[in-house]
Amino acid sequence: MLEAQLPSSPRSTPPEAPMGWRARWQAWRDRVLTSPEFQRRAARSWWMRPIARRRARALFDLVAGFVYTQVLQACVRLRLFEHLAEGPQTAAELARRMDLPMDGAERLLAAAVALDLVEHRAGGRFGLGKLGAPMVGNEAIAAMVEHHSVLYADLQDPVALLRGTGTPAHLSQYWAYATAASPGALSPEQVNEYSALMSASQPLVAEEVLDTYDVRAHQCLLDVGGGQGRFLQAVGRRAPGLQLMLFDLPGVVPVARAAFAAQGLDGRTAVHGGDFTRDPLPTGADIATLIRVIYDHPDARAMTILRAVYRALPPGGTLLLAEPMAGAPGAPRMGDAYFGFYLLAMRGGRSRTAADLAALMHAAGFEAVRELPTPIPLQVGVLVARKPA
Ligand SMILES: C[S@@+](CC[C@H](N)C(=O)[O-])C[C@H]1O[C@@H](n2cnc3c(N)ncnc32)[C@H](O)[C@@H]1O
Repeated sequence: MLEAQLPSSPRSTPPEAPMGWRARWQAWRDRVLTSPEFQRRAARSWWMRPIARRRARALFDLVAGFVYTQVLQACVRLRLFEHLAEGPQTAAELARRMDLPMDGAERLLAAAVALDLVEHRAGGRFGLGKLGAPMVGNEAIAAMVEHHSVLYADLQDPVALLRGTGTPAHLSQYWAYATAASPGALSPEQVNEYSALMSASQPLVAEEVLDTYDVRAHQCLLDVGGGQGRFLQAVGRRAPGLQLMLFDLPGVVPVARAAFAAQGLDGRTAVHGGDFTRDPLPTGADIATLIRVIYDHPDARAMTILRAVYRALPPGGTLLLAEPMAGAPGAPRMGDAYFGFYLLAMRGGRSRTAADLAALMHAAGFEAVRELPTPIPLQVGVLVARKPA
């Protein structure tokens, strides 16, 4: 009774959860690491110096990362890696080929050397660095690097983006279907640019998926949201006996149709235009693929798509879902930092873990959902599931 009248009594406040040893240790570590005195001593102590330097470098890379990205952007636009693929060259030769003043070329080369994109070679020449070499002829990475100028514009005010108060229009206009009231009515002009980007970046994905899951045991494969057909073309090469079907927006499919005809695949390919949130998907396939499709959409729309796929498959049919996933082994930055913000700016989608996606697939009626390990989880994760027989 007395205690009830004493609001300042310690017993009148709700009891705090007792601090376990881990929380106490973390609180102590936070105090130490944020202390300027500790930071100064760590940088001067011979045994702590390597750790202090490593952490300072990692933090500096976060602070300066946007500059590194623009250095890469300049290298790609000026085709520096393709020039160096012909052999080591001097700064003067490269300045001429990139149409840069000598000072600009030297600055770019110095930055590219620091970022391991370029390296010094004998005779004052420059050659491909260990990160520049894989860029040669890699249209997939080059297309993504070029495309990032659109994302870059939307990320200028990240706090407004998170609060939903800014007007980040660039990326959501680019991916016109993300916010369109009637995606099926989008014109070819509104879909061509992103479709070309997806085609260009598809080689990063197709071989990974097809090395992970053998499609040759199937008779007919329906690629839902299959874009300009680049994934199906890779499937066609791997599995010459497989019938192929593609479903995408009416504005997208004419390019796919033309590409199949140009490759002599039209005899075994059926192309369907429609809106997978409203129209039924074509039937007849014993396996359906959703490649980089579900992460574009909020949960409710993702469920609509998965249910449409479920209805289109026969009993016992297979669903193969592949996209970059949050929580991918060794790649937390890709799912949670990069795609987390990319999809926020796009206004629609979500980076999901394999478990999140499996839960959606189960809710749509699929069973035996399994995650298959991919060679490079940073690029794509794969889930396979079955419609009950
Ligand atoms: C991120 S792209 C992926 C394309 C392709 N699967 C790939 O990995 O290269 C998503 C695809 O879904 C298609 N799409 C989006 N909304 C759609 C809708 N409502 N109906 C049909 N297709 C749609 C887009 O046109 C686009 O081709």
